[in-house]
Amino acid sequence: MDKLQITGGKRLNGDIPISGAKNAALPILCAGLLTAGDLVLSNVPRLHDVRTMLKLLAQTGLKVSQGEGKDSENVTLNGAAIGSLEAPYELVKTMRASILVLGPMLARFGEAKVSLPGGCAIGSRPVDQHIKGLRAMGAEITIEGGYIHAKCPRLQGARILTDMITVTGTENLLMAATLAQGETILENAAREPEVTDLANMLVAMGAKIEGIGTDRLVIQGVDALHGTEHAVISDRIEAATFLCAVAATGGDIRITRTRTDIFDVALDKLREMGLNLSVEGDAIRARMDGRPRPVSFRTTEYPGFPTDMQAQFMAVNIVADGPSRVTETIFENRFMHVQEMNRLGAQISIEGNTAFMRGADRLVGAPVMATDLRASASLVIAGLAAEGTTLVDRIYHLDRGYDRMEDKLSAVGADIVRIK
Ligand code: EPU
Repeated sequence: MDKLQITGGKRLNGDIPISGAKNAALPILCAGLLTAGDLVLSNVPRLHDVRTMLKLLAQTGLKVSQGEGKDSENVTLNGAAIGSLEAPYELVKTMRASILVLGPMLARFGEAKVSLPGGCAIGSRPVDQHIKGLRAMGAEITIEGGYIHAKCPRLQGARILTDMITVTGTENLLMAATLAQGETILENAAREPEVTDLANMLVAMGAKIEGIGTDRLVIQGVDALHGTEHAVISDRIEAATFLCAVAATGGDIRITRTRTDIFDVALDKLREMGLNLSVEGDAIRARMDGRPRPVSFRTTEYPGFPTDMQAQFMAVNIVADGPSRVTETIFENRFMHVQEMNRLGAQISIEGNTAFMRGADRLVGAPVMATDLRASASLVIAGLAAEGTTLVDRIYHLDRGYDRMEDKLSAVGADIVRIK
């Protein structure tokens, strides 16, 4: 199993290009199931989760053509010859986002059999709202042998109000509704920029969607969608991760190929931490001197503070010059980085869903274990800020969602190497 060896205490200086967003690319790839035309995609990030999704889609009969090397960010999909309507347990268990094939498959082919995703390190993460929405559209759904089996010759438009805001739930129902008969209204829809990116692409494919970017999506179903070209939106979580890194280490970096309009409260919080941010075209320059100031926040849905940035901000808070508190409201078990950070000398205690931090004067490197994707990223940041050597184990979590993170960091002066 690969590990990352980090020798901390180096300031970061230089440019870091941001890749396409994982959480936009995954639903966008599944939209390839909605049409017999070519979906010509660019800025698809080079990630383990993307490879898993392509493997899953290829075994349904979706034709996948991918460039090589740098061109592997260009992927063309063709869904003219889908032969299998099943997403098997072996693949779904490794990636929960596999549930995103359910809506499009059912909508276009009238049937889908998708393994129920199992438990997950960060929380129980049920998919009851995906099922509730598809049932409201007329699908007959049974759960047997660990599989969701859905059937419906033609989905019917419906008004769907989900019990909570769900990102992949909104995406699944949105894709299904594009090919349903009549009007579907998705109330309480997720507004994340990744949902908007998917919706914009669906419109380019011939879908009729109103209210994009709001919590009420109105979809008029059409008989068929056609192919299109689309560039995946830039990854705001990856961008914020590097901004947190420079907030913790000090330095002067520019994150390029990004957009400021897709950020949430994260940029304000980074400024509050003392990061000097300026926008230069599609780049954000970030300068940091001295110790960061602590920030407190609670995670909520977009445009609130994202749960996917919680751990990385905590990695800055633990070296800040004062106390802070962070409340996690989206997932019930997303503080697994806390014990690992404490091994580096952080002073964090947890009460319920709130973590209390006292900023430490110094962290000292140690071996730590990554437990999930964003926790891994936070341990890398803590390692960059710590004195001495930190060894981050189980970085396969990191590879699921960050495109060559260690290369991007070493290019700006970090001392970080992958040990095979
Ligand atoms: N929920 C239910 N029932 C459902 C759906 C969701 O109870 O049917 C609950 C979840 O258990 C959770 C809350 O609703 O407590 C919100 O979950 P959501 O469905 O929004 O999460 P998701 O769609 O499974 C996506 C991202 C996650 C990100 C969350 C929240 C993708 C592929 N994944 O997950 O990304 O944390 O939204 O923003 O888009 C990551 O990138 O590290 C990651 C975990």
